[in-house]
Amino acid sequence: MSYPQHLAIIMDGNGRWAEQRRLPRIAGHRRGVETVQEIVKECRSLGIPHLTLYAFSSENWGRPHDEVGALMELLGLFLKRELQTMLANDIRLKVIGEVGRLPGKVREILEQTVSRTAANSGMVLTLALSYGARNELLRAVRDVAEEVRAGRVEPEAIDESCFAGHLDTAELPDPDFLIRTSGEMRISNFLLWQLAYAELYFTEALWPDFSSRELHRALEEFGRRQRRFGLTGAQVQKPARRQGEKNH
Ligand code: IPE
Ligand code: IPE
Ligand code: MG
Repeated sequence: MSYPQHLAIIMDGNGRWAEQRRLPRIAGHRRGVETVQEIVKECRSLGIPHLTLYAFSSENWGRPHDEVGALMELLGLFLKRELQTMLANDIRLKVIGEVGRLPGKVREILEQTVSRTAANSGMVLTLALSYGARNELLRAVRDVAEEVRAGRVEPEAIDESCFAGHLDTAELPDPDFLIRTSGEMRISNFLLWQLAYAELYFTEALWPDFSSRELHRALEEFGRRQRRFGLTGAQVQKPARRQGEKNH
């Protein structure tokens, strides 16, 4: 089976998971962190080279003060705990979003984790934090406009790859597979440019209930999709496998 090269996940449903159990929403976020740990490990062992997790959106800043504070604290704890795992498993951490809006303490741990894992090459784990795609696109537009104003770039020279080079994801390939948990069928301001041709997968499972088993179900579905990129089925059909040839 062919696995995605870049799996992006909108981890949704922590709050509902907790509310169903009459627990505070933060209990759901805590369980959500356990799912993150399981899924990171599984993706690494499957050899998926890029995993991007939507952990906190620009819009999430509008949640009650207590929830935002608890999420930030949880993020710091997660990073401290995960550093050893990342080092042991050759995982490199990357962050996208308006990192400057995060509390200083979290920013500090983030910077440390990013720099201590910078030489790892087994998998790139990207966390989208204080991330909103429209904000990212606007920052990129401003950057490009500055380049033009400074005379370093001619407007005619701005093509897709030049523009993508100004996004937070400049070094990453576009996601080929997007999973969203919790039954919601929307993108919620995530990677609007980069998801242009991603395969989308929605599951009813709430993020704390998502598991390696659920991940495999999703990956099997990805394996069945025919990615045509505007061409005809016949044009993109893989040559028929010879008998006895392995399925990947
Ligand atoms: C996703 O779970 C985590 C974040 C957005 C930080 P939610 O907190 O959105 O959970 P629901 O959607 O309210 O159930
Ligand atoms: C999207 O989930 C953001 C993250 C998973 C971090 P939300 O729960 O914030 O999105 P909406 O409100 O359902 O669009
Ligand atoms: Mg939600």
